[in-house]
Amino acid sequence: MINITKIEKTYPFLKTIANAAEQLQTEIYIVGGFVRDLLLEREKKEIDFLVIGDGISFAEKLSEKIGGEKISVFRNFGTAHFRYNYFDLEFVGARKESYDKSSRKPVVTNGTFKDDISRRDFTINTLALSLNKKNYGELIDTFGGLADLEQKLLRTPLHPEETFNDDPLRIMRAFRFAAQLNFNVSDEIKSAARAMAERLKIVSQERITDEFLKILASPKPSIGLKLLQETEVMKVIFPEFANLQGVDQRQDFHHKDVFFHTCKVVDNISPNTDNVWLRFAALVHDIAKPQTKRFVENVGWTFHGHEDLGARIMKGIFTRLKLPFHQLEYIRKLVRLHLRPIALAKEEVTDSAVRRFIVEAGEDLHDLITLCRADITSKNMEKVSEYLANYDRVMNRVLEVEEKDKLRAFQSPVRGEEIMQLCNLKPSKKVGEIKTAIENAILDGIIPNTYEDALSYLYKIKDK
Ligand code: CTP
Repeated sequence: MINITKIEKTYPFLKTIANAAEQLQTEIYIVGGFVRDLLLEREKKEIDFLVIGDGISFAEKLSEKIGGEKISVFRNFGTAHFRYNYFDLEFVGARKESYDKSSRKPVVTNGTFKDDISRRDFTINTLALSLNKKNYGELIDTFGGLADLEQKLLRTPLHPEETFNDDPLRIMRAFRFAAQLNFNVSDEIKSAARAMAERLKIVSQERITDEFLKILASPKPSIGLKLLQETEVMKVIFPEFANLQGVDQRQDFHHKDVFFHTCKVVDNISPNTDNVWLRFAALVHDIAKPQTKRFVENVGWTFHGHEDLGARIMKGIFTRLKLPFHQLEYIRKLVRLHLRPIALAKEEVTDSAVRRFIVEAGEDLHDLITLCRADITSKNMEKVSEYLANYDRVMNRVLEVEEKDKLRAFQSPVRGEEIMQLCNLKPSKKVGEIKTAIENAILDGIIPNTYEDALSYLYKIKDK
């Protein structure tokens, strides 16, 4: 439950706001994610306040009274926002939507606490904390949000079709919260999501992509990805990805179905990186498998060239999903190269093949190996260790070649000038030959790479 005295210790300004609201004779509640996260013991820097009456004018007066930073007012949305004590405070007046018979567009007017709360997305987001004198610190739970929090369940306060009708993006929000909080979603939400998936087409791409990336950034993205797939919402928002289901592949190395295999790869990589773009690379690394699938006698299904095709179609996907173009090359590179390291695991691979790989992967080499390791989804633990050992071998080869190259790029500690002096030589080919001889002695491990050793070696060879 909520202990307001304890909360005031962490957020002392809540009392200040409560006092100011009382002076301004305004009824005010903390609502939404802040209350939810307080109960889940998650930290949150944004606080939503529900004001009964005019939220904007209250925020303006409050900010003046308590000295908030510059206030931003969004009249279209009826909200005002300012920063205070390193927190983002957002104020909204209670609203209700009603339908004029002659138009299908809702009319938004001032409403009561209950009107507003019932139009919110999920019961766990309808919990409100009173800052009013009469019931200061009381948790108001109109729709059983507390029980749902305890049962880790997402439900809508009204019938889900009604809640989703207000904002179809809430379909994705349900799956995003499920992935972020490791919650289940109610069967009613799933059915409504399936029935209303097409309505997401009226939502802006930016909002959709934002939710999708939040799913990807969550601790176990597959929870959200599978919900999107199961309800066929994925078909609407990311059809290329939805198409991976039903594509079988060899079972020993990977999971049988490409969609479920990919979900596993994304889950595998997530504990190893918070970089959402590396996770995105994991998500799309096999995206072109459906198009490249062929049956080869005695081999089974093959997907030749899926890495190149995948890299090529990435631009179209980035354009449609409105993803940031400065990440395109990185994703393309990881998709294109994701099979390369395993090809380098063979014993007979030459230094130059390894060198070419180092140059192509460049600064993303470690991310690529992280992706390759996550790509092992076999259930056979022996095979998993064998495949992981392959990548260790590749990384050892990489280090080995890098080390050699570092040595190649080095110069003899005894420089040309000194060689000329000590050997009494004019600038000539001979000076270069002596220098190379010293360098080779170091590279071949005949002498250590120090000035003293190089100098005595020079004395030894100078008369030869
Ligand atoms: N809300 C809603 N429908 C939406 C978006 C928001 O009902 N489509 C309501 C919910 O009550 C939500 C609150 O507005 O809790 C604040 O929204 P937002 O800041 O987007 O989400 P949070 O719940 O605070 O969670 P997070 O910041 O983690 O997204």
